Order: sequence, then structure tokens, then C-alpha cells
Amino acid sequence: MSSTTTNEPIATDADATPEETDIAQRAALVQALKRHTAADTNTGGASFLAPYAPTVRARRLRALDAARVTPDDVVYDLGSGTGEVLIDAAKMGVKKCVGLEIDDSLIARARDNALDAGVAERCEFHSCDITKMTPDALALGPPGVPAPTVVFCWLTSGGLTRVSSKLRRAWEMGTFRIVTCVDSLDACVDYLADGAFAEPRDDGWEVSREHSDYGVFVVPEQGVSVSEWSHRPATVRAS
Ligand SMILES: C[S@@+](CC[C@H](N)C(=O)[O-])C[C@H]1O[C@@H](n2cnc3c(N)ncnc32)[C@H](O)[C@@H]1O
Repeated sequence: MSSTTTNEPIATDADATPEETDIAQRAALVQALKRHTAADTNTGGASFLAPYAPTVRARRLRALDAARVTPDDVVYDLGSGTGEVLIDAAKMGVKKCVGLEIDDSLIARARDNALDAGVAERCEFHSCDITKMTPDALALGPPGVPAPTVVFCWLTSGGLTRVSSKLRRAWEMGTFRIVTCVDSLDACVDYLADGAFAEPRDDGWEVSREHSDYGVFVVPEQGVSVSEWSHRPATVRAS
């Protein structure tokens, strides 16, 4: 296993160890952030929660496993990019997958990808600025769309920090568990605050650090303790 520098290739899905996956994902996010800010420092502006960088397959499967998805679930992805997380969730048999994404060109690609994967009827992608969503809109879902039972998000730490209190209010109103990648809701920090690390937040989240080797963290539904959650049966994947 090698350390990753800017001159070395990023580990691929197929051969990556969890540590390499984590390094590669963070590197991809940093590179995307640099491209984004180089292209236009105002792009996204107040709405900007993360640049586009897809979660690698090993991690997204871990995330879905960690969320214990079942065929009864409605999975939302906040910042759904090109839809890979939801397409994998649909292939695992969940009944509905809902992507919320600010970039319409990514939504178009996600719809094409869902069609190509044969799961378009169970995936929908909505143009949406999460920073402008009310907590009840998140808890209930867009009009005509079932409410989430699982909310996935992979944003920058700063982005996660910014949506944390809204997510908290939605979580209190709804019945969903949250799965995050790279940062956990009880310890996300704002990397972008004056270029310094802010103090970890103390929002009262109780987080299950399952698959912590892949940086995947779950907040169980309200009323379910982490200890109760840890006894919930694991996801059984369709063959
Ligand atoms: C790191 S990517 C994650 C993509 C996908 N969820 C995945 O894991 O493969 C973050 C995504 O969030 C989107 N995004 C950033 N700010 C947003 C906002 N305010 N509302 C909705 N989506 C946003 C970006 O366009 C990007 O596609």
C-alpha cells in the first residue's frame, strides 16, 4: 500500500483498500473543489455545499449496507450528482430513490445513467438547492414523492456543517436514518471557515460508526438508540 501524493494515481475501485479509498475520495473532493473555485469563485455562492465528485463504488456499497437498506426504503441523496449511489440502491431492491441536486447537467446525466442501468422507474432526480429547502420539505419530500426513510449525503465537511441544523429539524419531524461519508454529523468541522478548522459541533447527534474503515457513519431514526440500531439485521442483498 502506498501513500498518495499529487503525482501518484488515485486508487481504483477494484484494488483499493479502505485506507486508499478514503485517501482517494478526499483527494478527489479536494481536486474538484480546486477546479470549482478556479473556474469561478462565485459559482454556487451561498448555495455551494460541495463540488461534484462521485462516491467510489466500494464506499457507496458500504454506505448502503451501513444504512441497512431494505425493499421498503425510500432513499434520498442530498446532492445526488450523476446518481450512482441511488442506482446502486435501486439495484439492491429499494422501492424508491430520490436525488436532489443543484446542477441540472448532472441531473440529466443521472437520469441517463438510471435508464442505462434499467432502474429508471424507481429513480427520480429533482432540481433542488438544498440550502433553500425547508426542514419540513425535506422530511416530507417533494410533492407527490414519498418521504425519505434513508437520507444519504456526501458533502464537504463545511457543507455538512451548514445543513446540519436543517437536517436535524427534518430528522425530528420525519422517520429517516442518515448516512454520511467522510464526515460524521457529530464531528463535522468547517474546513472553509477562515481557512482554519472550526471546533467539532455538538448538535446532539448519536452516530453509529459502522464501517468506520470506509468513513461511513449512520444516525439511526429518531427514537432508535445506536445500541438498538446495532442489533438491526444487516442488509440482505439481492443476488
Ligand atoms: C461530493 S458530490 C456527491 C455526489 C453523489 N451524492 C455521490 O455520492 O456520488 C456533491 C454533490 O452535491 C451537489 N450540491 C452542491 N451544493 C448543492 C446544493 N446547495 N443543493 C443541491 N446539491 C448541491 C453538487 O453539485 C454535487 O453533485
